[in-house]
Amino acid sequence: MSHAEDHAGTRRDFLYYATAGAGTVATGAAVWTLVDQMNPSADVQALSSIFVDVSGVETGTQLTVKWRGKPVFIRRRTQEEIDAARAVDLNDLVDPNAENANIAAEAPATDENRALDEAGEWLVMIGVCTHLGCVPLGDGAGDFGGWFCPCHGSHYDTSGRIRRGPAPENLPVPVAAFTDETTIKLG
Ligand code: FES
Repeated sequence: MSHAEDHAGTRRDFLYYATAGAGTVATGAAVWTLVDQMNPSADVQALSSIFVDVSGVETGTQLTVKWRGKPVFIRRRTQEEIDAARAVDLNDLVDPNAENANIAAEAPATDENRALDEAGEWLVMIGVCTHLGCVPLGDGAGDFGGWFCPCHGSHYDTSGRIRRGPAPENLPVPVAAFTDETTIKLG
């Protein structure tokens, strides 16, 4: 190997590692900024829990926040979405489990077992496709009017349950609760 080739090889390696390092730092910084904005008095405890103001979320829209490095979908559903989710025959579900961290994850995947409130107006889910981790599109996307992951074509219904495509599980519901009428605590 000539000196020139040797030098080029070294330089390529250096650039590769430098890029990977920069990416990692950027991701970490973005998460920290978000946590900071949502909870200015963030201490170590607050890093695992965040409070989200949902007063500006209109019916039929979704707020996406970043929590523990992942997108969390907070959707305020229309009555049509709720009715559609509650009319589904559980035998048609791919994943029969509620996948809800607030109750036994193996509880049946009824919409009542996934929605945050009894009326079913609010649905909170980790927005990461259970196939290979892409972020599904919302706002009525896909064949079931819920979310659609274009990576390999996974369709989720209005309760975030997987109905078609390669994803094996329903979008998971994280630990979440209302702390007052317009604030949802995650974690
Ligand atoms: S990652 Fe969503 S379908 Fe593959």
